[in-house]
Amino acid sequence: MTVSALDNGITGNRIDSQTVLYGVIGDPVRHSKSPIMMNRAFRETGINGAYMAFHITPGKLGQFVAGIRAMGIRGVNVTIPHKLDIMKYMDEIDAGAQAIGAVNTIVNDNGRLTGYNTDGIGYVRSLKEEAEPELAGKRILVIGAGGASRGIVYALAGEQPSGITIANRSVERAEELAQSFRSLADIRAIANDELQAACGEADIVINTTSVGMHPHTDATPIDTSWLKPSAVASDLIYNPLRTKFLLDAEQHGCRVHGGLGMFIYQGAYAFEYWTGQPAPAAAMRETVLQSLV
Ligand code: ATR
Repeated sequence: MTVSALDNGITGNRIDSQTVLYGVIGDPVRHSKSPIMMNRAFRETGINGAYMAFHITPGKLGQFVAGIRAMGIRGVNVTIPHKLDIMKYMDEIDAGAQAIGAVNTIVNDNGRLTGYNTDGIGYVRSLKEEAEPELAGKRILVIGAGGASRGIVYALAGEQPSGITIANRSVERAEELAQSFRSLADIRAIANDELQAACGEADIVINTTSVGMHPHTDATPIDTSWLKPSAVASDLIYNPLRTKFLLDAEQHGCRVHGGLGMFIYQGAYAFEYWTGQPAPAAAMRETVLQSLV
């Protein structure tokens, strides 16, 4: 790579002796869009930062955390499979991340590491900005009760919905999730055979399962004719950008909301925790979208 390529910001930002390092860890990690998104955010705001992807296998997690402190890495995003295991290395864990039981963002304040979870709040910010600004009083149906669902249910519970219903193939998992956050909102669990009735009552229906994800793009978690045409259909999947669930729901007259926004805004919150500045979300989205075509 030439010096001029760096100066032009083609592969990253201008790097000098003041540059602050950031990154994402995962196993695997080479597919991650976070580096292009975050380096665009640094360029856009003029912050002298550089963001890298680090392939960290589970056995190297402790060494990496020592490296965060030794190298003064200011911020780290944490992805699969480390979101739980990283927690024991934190000096402090934010209340939301504690409740969710997973950390996806680390802030390093002079060696003191704080863990946050921006997935759920990122999703909710995206839903409000892109599809439904007012969640208070809404009936929300969440399909799936895995790790992603957990963060989202926690964040939705803080928005004063009239109720949250969690449907899952194995109902015990939905019941367990509902139980965790029952003190925060009116939350109930149902099995998938009750989905049709629940869809008929819901203002917002969110797919948090992997059903419909590439390469199984013909699959869909529900029959969208069950939805109210006034409902919002939302999918966490962003590959494809429009799942069969969303395409069908759109045909049915529903407003639709794809999963890319969750990715953008989980990163936007991380950027804001690290830098104290508003994230340039539109530019971040533009860069990620360009990389997908
Ligand atoms: P994530 O962290 O992405 O949420 P996960 O914890 O493995 O991943 O959860 C996947 C969710 O998708 C679960 O709710 C799972 O249902 P079960 O708890 O019954 O396993 C759901 N899921 C995955 N494949 C599914 C399928 N083919 N049909 C219905 N639900 C499915």
